[in-house]
Amino acid sequence: MPTDVKTIAVIGAGQMGGGIAQVAATAGINAIAYDAFPASLDKCKALHTKLMARAVEKGKMSQSDANAALARISYTADFDAITKADWVVEAAVEDAALKAELFQRLARTFTNPRVVLATNTSSISITQIAAAAEAETPGAGSRVIGMHFFNPVPVMKLVEVIRGLTTTDEVTQRTIDLSIAMGKEPHAANDRAGFVSNRVLMPMINEAFYAWMEGVAEPEDIDAIMMKGCAHPMGPLRLADFIGLDTCVHIMDVLADGLNNDRYRACPKLKQLVTAGRLGNKTQRGVYDYTSK
Ligand code: CAA
Repeated sequence: MPTDVKTIAVIGAGQMGGGIAQVAATAGINAIAYDAFPASLDKCKALHTKLMARAVEKGKMSQSDANAALARISYTADFDAITKADWVVEAAVEDAALKAELFQRLARTFTNPRVVLATNTSSISITQIAAAAEAETPGAGSRVIGMHFFNPVPVMKLVEVIRGLTTTDEVTQRTIDLSIAMGKEPHAANDRAGFVSNRVLMPMINEAFYAWMEGVAEPEDIDAIMMKGCAHPMGPLRLADFIGLDTCVHIMDVLADGLNNDRYRACPKLKQLVTAGRLGNKTQRGVYDYTSK
């Protein structure tokens, strides 16, 4: 079914939220990028302009299409400005308490039963987020769904669609339709810790840290072995830097607690780097040093 969504509000203009807004606008859907921090909005806008210019340079997009896509994105630090949206994708930081508060606010703001409240969470329970919305506005929990994009959003094809216990079939189908309209390939997963992507990916990354910690091989070799032997586009340690080592620890904690199994505990080596503030690309140091780039 074609999507009927005209305007998406994206909450959080970081790497993921910015990517989601860009993909929506490129697909002809209006996007409102909301962030409480104006500096994040400025950074997001500058990145959109740069990526669109690069797409034109490479001949992937005409100048007029790029201009039209950029014109479809608005940037705001005013929460009231998002109320004209008919779909919300939350892409704020991975903090369960913050998301609960945010979804209460969204449920209060968007009382129209057609407005879907999607979250880009990578591992927090959709049912738990929906319960917060439901507590605020009865019925709102049935409009909450997981719409999990992958980084870099403009490049990665997948949207993992996760329905919570109370999500309706209609909301699920409309999420699939919207994902397709955004040029993505949706696949369904149930609401269990880590869903599918992080249930499988994160323990592999964690194991790579154990292999490093135990001296099985150096990071460059671990990554090269997985790239050349298993055709991964990035080795697991470089991918961990790309995702953010703090995010990796957070997801391992969600797996360990949610699946009640200590085999999912984050590797001490991974935790140590986080303690040292080496969070990966975003701090220019993680497993690897990016300061010279
Ligand atoms: N935004 C937009 N486009 C980007 C981009 C970005 N941030 N980064 C790279 N690209 C584009 C480039 O412009 C280039 O496009 P063209 O082919 O049109 O020229 C293309 O991607 C390839 O980029 P590069 O040639 O620079 O580099 P590469 O071939 O090494 O690819 C990569 C880079 C796409 C990131 C690739 O290394 C890759 O696929 N890595 C794995 C990414 C991955 O696994 N992501 C999922 C992480 S898990 C997650 O997101 C969810 C979670 O819950 C933790």
